[in-house]
Amino acid sequence: MKIEVRYYSRGGTTSKLATAAAEAVGAVPMTVEDDLKEKCDLLLIGASVYAGRPDAKVISFIQRNAVNIGAIAVFGSSASGRSTFNAIKAAAQDVGIKVLESDFTCYGPFMFLHKKHPTSEDLQRVKAFARARVDEVSAK
Ligand SMILES: Cc1cc2nc3c(=O)[nH]c(=O)nc-3n(C[C@H](O)[C@H](O)[C@H](O)COP(=O)(O)O)c2cc1C
Repeated sequence: MKIEVRYYSRGGTTSKLATAAAEAVGAVPMTVEDDLKEKCDLLLIGASVYAGRPDAKVISFIQRNAVNIGAIAVFGSSASGRSTFNAIKAAAQDVGIKVLESDFTCYGPFMFLHKKHPTSEDLQRVKAFARARVDEVSAK
């Protein structure tokens, strides 16, 4: 099974989550600037919340690479605990891609909030999340 990890990170938190998730499933984390070169069965996409939504670069990556994406699982962080899942699911569905229903979100530092995140527990949790999504897609 081919697994790819892509992320967008302004402050480094999503990058840390992507590194942990990729390590857990034997993939190499890359930013959304790196297009897919071949078809993957599962794309783990790291997208955190900025002004209530994922960055436009995440959505455009999905649109540009749609033909090479089997399914998507979403992970990310935010100050509020909210996720980018709904926005990514809507964008993916528009180009005919299935998004797995389980997503992962942890707190990310923002101004004076959540300075200790991502914690080592957050990183362990995103690893477990990534492995579980691989198992979910493999079982189909
Ligand atoms: C410009 C900006 C806007 C943000 N807007 C929101 C927001 O609307 N809601 C929220 O919960 N967090 C918001 N955050 C917090 C980020 O989601 C949080 O810091 C996240 O961990 C950033 O991930 P990154 O370090 O990978 O860029 C914002 C952060 C920045 C820098």
